[in-house]
Amino acid sequence: MLIGIPKETAAGEKRVATVPEVVEKLVKLGFSVAVQSGAGDAANFADDTYRAAGASVVPGAADIWSQSDIVFKVRVPGADEVAQLREGATLIGFIWPAQNPELMQQLSGRKVTVLAIDSLPRQLSRAQKMDALTSMAGISGYRAVIEAANAFGRFFNGQVTAAGKIPPAKVFIAGAGVAGLAAIGTAANLGAIVRANDTRAEVADQVVSLGGEFVKVDYEEEGAGGGGYAKVMSEGFQAAQRAMYAQQAKEVDIIITTALIPGKPAPKLITAEMVQSMKPGSVIVDMAAEQGGNCELTVPGEAVVRHGVTIVGYTDLVSRLAKQSSTLYSNNLLRLTEELCKTKDGVIHVNMDDDAIRGLTVIKDGAITWPPPPLKLPAPPAKPAAAAVPAPKAHGHGPGEPMSARSLATVFGIGAVLFALVGLYAPASFLAHFTVFVLACFVGYMVVWNVTPSLHTPLMSVTNAISSIIAIGALVQVAPPLSGAGSDRPSGLILGLAVVALVLTAVNMFGGFAVTRRMLAMFRK
Ligand code: NAI
Repeated sequence: MLIGIPKETAAGEKRVATVPEVVEKLVKLGFSVAVQSGAGDAANFADDTYRAAGASVVPGAADIWSQSDIVFKVRVPGADEVAQLREGATLIGFIWPAQNPELMQQLSGRKVTVLAIDSLPRQLSRAQKMDALTSMAGISGYRAVIEAANAFGRFFNGQVTAAGKIPPAKVFIAGAGVAGLAAIGTAANLGAIVRANDTRAEVADQVVSLGGEFVKVDYEEEGAGGGGYAKVMSEGFQAAQRAMYAQQAKEVDIIITTALIPGKPAPKLITAEMVQSMKPGSVIVDMAAEQGGNCELTVPGEAVVRHGVTIVGYTDLVSRLAKQSSTLYSNNLLRLTEELCKTKDGVIHVNMDDDAIRGLTVIKDGAITWPPPPLKLPAPPAKPAAAAVPAPKAHGHGPGEPMSARSLATVFGIGAVLFALVGLYAPASFLAHFTVFVLACFVGYMVVWNVTPSLHTPLMSVTNAISSIIAIGALVQVAPPLSGAGSDRPSGLILGLAVVALVLTAVNMFGGFAVTRRMLAMFRK
């Protein structure tokens, strides 16, 4: 089958649906690839690089649309493009079927099959490699921080220089979904103090793991609305959230807003008064600008200055990193193509029994198949019902609760009696080994429990490296006997085994320390 890649026609769109690296892989899967001349120019992929990768480069868009069996697109196609699609072809790209009912009718009229990458069931772990929404959101979160840094007149990280002390910038991220988390990670890596808020409480840990601080709204209400997305919050919550955001606006230098609710206008989180209360020179990047904006003063597509604050409302953040976003997007499409062409013979098969494929197939041979039936996901583990009032306990303790002094004394008392019995009746050699064993358990317990869980993996690798102390045993075998010690040289076999053991423990030791160093480097700023 022939895969065609037309040049994107939306104003300012720099991305291209397939990059040369992916063309090579599509050719290996048995497909022919035709690229419209200049399709990759804005993303720095010249026609020649496509030719070198095995694609044919054709001059006009008409040939691509009318002759391809499969068309790879980024943006929603225009009416004139749809009109050229040939019957039986397959279109893959962003479609947004809920927002574009007319386009859906047009496409259906062309008797084509349409796979909307935006309709992929993201909850399926198998679908993650095809999840273009996530890959694009990650890029826009990163770019939002870069835009903020560009508009901000100071460093992000604090510095002490001969010319003076510079405090770190304070960044507040509203909405910690995929884009928000990418922004948190980027801003924290640049050295800023990062705070974030989201209506879904479950993201608090993710915020902290990326170097941010989760700021809670002083109001109990769960914000998850199903499928990992948010819901519209109650009036009471919104009022409490506004109070918290107003406080943050006074304190921070940069606000990046990413809050979205599927199928609803973006929630207005930053009011004109909050903008006014910010320090002059502060920056707001409103990533929800296209959906109406999270800030009242955002002008979609533009950067404006209001009350001394720069408000960036660019709607093309992903396109501003065209090479990166084209590469990730085309990798998502490649993974989808692999799913569609398991036989690797250059022919796709749209399997409507496959949950992931069914979810994103919005039109099949001209018939509108959107919305798909609800996914049958395994039910989440039931939460234990919380007791309304914790009942006072006479004895014992629950998991995670510290032991009472009385229980502790009992445990120690029993332990001491057992020890005394072992000491009285066990042979002396056993007692020596037993003491070492008990001490090792105690030291191990103290070490592991006093290390934060995120560092347990490097702890294991360093412990592994330290266990190479057994090399001493092999060294004793290899070393010449001490003069006068009277011991015999070990046999050749034992010497050989000792040398092998030395080599292996050396690998374990140096490898263990090297791996630990690399892992710890990931935690260092
Ligand atoms: P999104 O772009 O729809 O929303 C962005 C963020 O804004 C969300 O985290 C949402 O909770 C937050 N938000 C909405 N209203 C808010 C308000 N009033 N105040 C503060 N924050 C508000 O969401 P995105 O980034 O596309 O994905 C959302 C989540 O979906 C992800 O964080 C992830 O947990 C989940 N997801 C799950 C996948 C899976 O199950 N495999 C795959 C991809 C995403």
